[in-house]
Amino acid sequence: VAEGEAPVPEDDSLAALRAAAAGCRRCPLWKPATQTVFGEGPEDARVLFVGEQPGDAEDLAGRPFVGPAGRVFDRALAELGLERARFYVTNAVKHFKFERRGRVRLHRSPDPSERAACRIWLERELATVRPDIVVCLGAIAARAVFGNKFRLMQQRGTWQTLPDGTRAFATVHPSWVLRQRGDEARREAYAHFVDDLSLLLKVRP
Ligand code: URA
Repeated sequence: VAEGEAPVPEDDSLAALRAAAAGCRRCPLWKPATQTVFGEGPEDARVLFVGEQPGDAEDLAGRPFVGPAGRVFDRALAELGLERARFYVTNAVKHFKFERRGRVRLHRSPDPSERAACRIWLERELATVRPDIVVCLGAIAARAVFGNKFRLMQQRGTWQTLPDGTRAFATVHPSWVLRQRGDEARREAYAHFVDDLSLLLKVRP
């Protein structure tokens, strides 16, 4: 597939979308990345989580949220008694964007053109899964879902309604929790993250 082409299938199944996204060349991020990291989870999930983009571990594994951020996410869900396997988990951008520093690959934020190019996949995942609730992890995800005016730190942990009536909220990204300096700050950030996610308990997903 030539760069810029959009091999988006007519067929709406997640399997068809995943297969098509594997060959996506809509932006240049596919080239240095190992593979497309598509969303995963049941097609009839009631809750759909959106992250930013795969990290180093996800790029290698081909699955979302399996690295350090994923472990924070898993721990928070487990603490709330929520089973991740029941949810659909995806990212706003499906390829890992990074900068090489010696042997490490450092995460870089996707720019607006890359986010816009990838948008079709999240839209199709949302249209196929049709969740009751969308949860955004971090500012990039929140802007992909609510638009650029969304202010994460002011609006986190509060219910929003999407144009089609779907209920949604945003919280911080688990990597942001890990980036807090000092045990106390990290502990507080994590507790607040869990508290935001506890909104899900009120709707018993
Ligand atoms: N960070 C994300 O936003 N998504 C992942 O899948 C992993 C880390």
